Amino acid sequence: MKHTDIRDIFYDSSFVGKTVTVCGWVRTSRDSKNVSFLEINDGTALKHLQVVIDKEKITGYENAMKLGCSVKVNGTICENPNNGVEINASEILVLGESPTDYPLQKKRHTLEFLRTMPHLRVRTNTFNAVFRVRSVLASAIHNYFQSRGYVYVNTPIITGSDAEGAGEVFRVTTQGFDHGCKTEEEYYANDFFGKKAGLSVSGQLEGEVAAMAFGKIYTFGPSFRAENSNTPRHLAEFWHIEPEVAFAELPDIIEIAEDMIKNIIGVVLEKCPDEIAFFEKHFEPGLSDKLKSIISHEFGIVEYTEAIEILKQSGRQFNYPCDWGCDLQTEHERYITEEVFKKPVFVINYPKDIKAFYMKQNPDGKTVAATDLLVPGVGEIIGCSEREADYGKLTEAMKARNMKFDDYSDYLDLRKFGSVPHSGFGLGFERILMYITGMANIRDITLYPRTVGSVR
Ligand code: 4AD
Ligand code: MG
Repeated sequence: MKHTDIRDIFYDSSFVGKTVTVCGWVRTSRDSKNVSFLEINDGTALKHLQVVIDKEKITGYENAMKLGCSVKVNGTICENPNNGVEINASEILVLGESPTDYPLQKKRHTLEFLRTMPHLRVRTNTFNAVFRVRSVLASAIHNYFQSRGYVYVNTPIITGSDAEGAGEVFRVTTQGFDHGCKTEEEYYANDFFGKKAGLSVSGQLEGEVAAMAFGKIYTFGPSFRAENSNTPRHLAEFWHIEPEVAFAELPDIIEIAEDMIKNIIGVVLEKCPDEIAFFEKHFEPGLSDKLKSIISHEFGIVEYTEAIEILKQSGRQFNYPCDWGCDLQTEHERYITEEVFKKPVFVINYPKDIKAFYMKQNPDGKTVAATDLLVPGVGEIIGCSEREADYGKLTEAMKARNMKFDDYSDYLDLRKFGSVPHSGFGLGFERILMYITGMANIRDITLYPRTVGSVR
């Protein structure tokens, strides 16, 4: 269907005076004595295009006045003092009608209400803005790595190993509940893969395999977590960016993470000014200055041990106690980043007992070369570490966790054959989107959010 994107009409003044065809969905309609007005949106721009209908010239357009219907309009582009440009219709064709039970009749609905209709909420300004930024951000991430020589790899989604060694894996099975197996072993032996399989919580372990050959790699794909965390920051299915870099120690990977975050925020500021202005107006006052400030200031960095001291001396009553050795809860993370540093901050060198088996053990025997990047308003957006490259130390950490060596034979081989210092991190795509847009709930960043008790 030949037509012009509304975006082009807004950004190219040479359209004024020309006759064009535009398509879109009707967002508002209004009737006066001699003229009627529609505002239509085709998804290419945040702003709606006003359609002016001269009642003497056009008849039979009543169905086009109903919100949510789709139309094709022929007409001439004219300047309009309030709205930039508008189109004077010469012909209106309703492509798809929309009866009056179309749910989005009001101008503004609550985000909670909109969550009940993921298939329609995408037609609102908020979700138009969210998904345009999401798309630009994804492209910026690929560009960042591609232009620096990283190899993009696709790690398996179905996996036989539990990367993080934590029990939060979705099981993958083709056997029904009436399989008739007597034991767990028998059950898995009869299953599709002949062994226990699940959805990957992280592509890291396979990412390391690739990095040990290609030097610098990144993944960008879905990860799955069966955590029972019903919070505004957790999804059961989220998108994960995981670079892995050979010949890199913790300070090197921290530098890469900071540079990448600044770079991709810069791209969004440049390519999505209308969307950022929209989020600033409706969701987070001061958003644009916040983003500019992130780019122009160094991120903070604090030892875990020091962070615990800061928390203990804060005089704050936290819901969870915090002593050396405890995992930082969201309330702790937010205090550190929002009240103390007031900017993104890397917490480094965590106690080894609260972190994964693969992290490089520090000489103190108590901590590992790991870091989380915490940001105001969201908390953790990156989990990062240097990897243990020493065969003996790695197997020691695995023994201490009662892990089966057989399940990790490939991973162990990497330490046997040409092991090198290497590091990587995992960035939660939806988490950084929350930070960039100011949207407070991860369910509003995702087309179809999967969370505990909710799948559609
Ligand atoms: O900190 P995590 O668990 O680290 C890893 O998975 C490492 N293997 C990463 C690596 O070193 N390659 O997860 C990394 C990031 C978190 O910081 C968070 O941003 C995001 O993934 N994340 C989630 N996002 C949404 N919903 C969830 N349930 C998430 N779990 C983790
Ligand atoms: Mg983490």
